[in-house]
Amino acid sequence: MKDVTYRNILTDRDGAIGIITLNRPKVLNALSHELMEELVMALEDFDKEDGIRVIILTGGERAFAAGADIGKMSDETTISIMLKDRFATWDKVRKVKKPVIAAVSGYALGGGCELVMTCDIIIASESAQFGQPEINIGVIPGAGGTQRLTRAVGKYKAMEMILTGRPMTAYEAHQWGLVNKVVPVELLLEEAKSVAREIAKKSPVATKLAKEAVLKTFDGPISEGLEFERKNFYMLFSSEDQKEGMKAFLEKRQPTFSGR
Ligand code: CAA
Repeated sequence: MKDVTYRNILTDRDGAIGIITLNRPKVLNALSHELMEELVMALEDFDKEDGIRVIILTGGERAFAAGADIGKMSDETTISIMLKDRFATWDKVRKVKKPVIAAVSGYALGGGCELVMTCDIIIASESAQFGQPEINIGVIPGAGGTQRLTRAVGKYKAMEMILTGRPMTAYEAHQWGLVNKVVPVELLLEEAKSVAREIAKKSPVATKLAKEAVLKTFDGPISEGLEFERKNFYMLFSSEDQKEGMKAFLEKRQPTFSGR
């Protein structure tokens, strides 16, 4: 299959493995809408391509992704963000039928952590950090964090992470069941490929149906929660704290929250 030329991601193949690399290193792979559209396109193409059995999603050494693009979001209002409903694109990521392995190094924060959690197996390098720091900029996770993190690590750890904004190291994430394996950074992609190769030997029909069945319990009852979370995220764009939080980040200063 001929590859499309993307501006925000790279695609590659290794035998039966399709590899997608997030590629906006200057902004730590911040997940702009354009990047997400390209990612969905590449995922859907690999999902349709007969020779591909497993997909690996990775980023750079410093960052898998540091979240949704704050620069492109800071001036949104509740109405503008609801009308655009950009986060609806994210729903397409979880519709991919083939197994997706996340290979994570560096920051996986906010939307970055949420994107990792839509994957099926998570391999982390020793430098990986997982967190939902949205509270620091006056908002909340908006792409599944309140739902998937809670299911992955349980209520109390999820509350701590979402309310304090404090990230977990790769080893903590492993201990809390968010990560399958932690490896040295230079072995990250090789380890992800080794798991992918093992899965690629199995029946492709069985792997798809196995994934679908596991997601039935993990993701099945999640849609109401995801919609609720997205509404609350959009609603926060009516608050002064969202404006102040995002502005302060872009101006590289501490925010002063008024509670309005
Ligand atoms: N959006 C836009 N730009 C971002 C970004 C983001 N999420 N994260 C980092 N960047 C940019 C920075 O603005 C900076 O750009 P300039 O060089 O042009 O100034 C560049 O990436 C490098 O970042 P830093 O200089 O901040 O690097 P650092 O090493 O000092 O800090 C960091 C790294 C701790 C990850 C810090 O960048 C950070 O806190 N990023 C924001 C994390 C965050 O709040 N994520 C959640 C976003 S909201 C969200 O994701 C909602 C959702 O649920 C989908």
